Amino acid sequence: MLVLGIESSCDETSAAVVSGGRVTLSNIVASQADFHALYGGVVPEIASRKHMEAIMPVIDMALDEAAVSLDDIEGIAVTRGPGLIGSILVGLSVAKSIAFARDIPFVGVNHIAGHIAAAFLTDDPPSFPFIALVVSGGHTNIYHLSDLDRTRLLGQTRDDAAGEAFDKAAKMLNLGYPGGVIIDKIAEGGDPDRVLFPRAMKKSLDFSFSGLKTSLLSYINKRDTPVSSEEMPHVAASFQQAIVDVLVEKTLRAAEEEAVSSIAISGGVAANRCLRRCFRKACEERGMALHVPPPVLCTDNAAMIAAYGTTLLRRGMRHSNDLNAVSRWPLGLDDV
Ligand code: KG4
Ligand code: ZN
Repeated sequence: MLVLGIESSCDETSAAVVSGGRVTLSNIVASQADFHALYGGVVPEIASRKHMEAIMPVIDMALDEAAVSLDDIEGIAVTRGPGLIGSILVGLSVAKSIAFARDIPFVGVNHIAGHIAAAFLTDDPPSFPFIALVVSGGHTNIYHLSDLDRTRLLGQTRDDAAGEAFDKAAKMLNLGYPGGVIIDKIAEGGDPDRVLFPRAMKKSLDFSFSGLKTSLLSYINKRDTPVSSEEMPHVAASFQQAIVDVLVEKTLRAAEEEAVSSIAISGGVAANRCLRRCFRKACEERGMALHVPPPVLCTDNAAMIAAYGTTLLRRGMRHSNDLNAVSRWPLGLDDV
């Protein structure tokens, strides 16, 4: 089954063509990050406008690169939520229009489910049951999956998402936006033990990153001078390690508690090199199989939406043209 995926829930406009829910024929991602960087974060109004400009060219590019036309497309999968409502509406409206005009079945997909489904676009997909960590700008969730649509939430953040913590830290350190990628780069070569940042909520599988954020702020405020360029890699590495440690520790603990030996990680923060290294090492030591998609499938993209959409379409799910976008949508709830 050849599925066109469309993703526009935040600041990336993306379209992809995926075959059989497993093979990515194209995955075009147009990032708006440069426009939002001027404001230090995503501006919803700008995001919607940029999606409108980019969506049709991005879809055309995805079809071209896959060497197919709309005549070949057998299903359309589009992000319906959660995310920025004005942004989601752009992708959803276009998906509905193409589906209606071409009489192609379409489904609205949960973005978080899409992130998890990215693991199935690799040569080494996880088998059920597995533990999934979805760690992005909007989410830090640990799930138990006994099937792609049978999920149980085991842990979540009580305040900021991990990606949000990266972005806010970069802002405090005047490093720019998007913060996660910048800290990832600067931290390379830095000493992660130079500054001691707190690891919160040790006993629970829930996360909290607001204390870490406050701790960085007081570290900056207590100083007489700004963090110098020589010190920056060490501060960035120490901050990054504090986030990575809790993500790795809690995800592995969830797997042990659930007696599951397979872990999949995804979402923008799963592109972080330190996170990938630390997960690999910890999983090796504790005899767990780790499934981590390449970075381009971790950050927002339409191939993951097409992958999950294919599962739903194959099961006969169809949405009608009155489907609406939703800004909040916990995984596992279909009736939103
Ligand atoms: O999954 P994603 O592209 O969008 C959401 O669904 O939120 O994730 C974006 C988040 C941002 O907070 C960004 O700073 C973070 O993922 N991120 C990273 C890296 N690449 C993206 N964080 C740490 N290291 C990275 N390499
Ligand atoms: Zn995302």
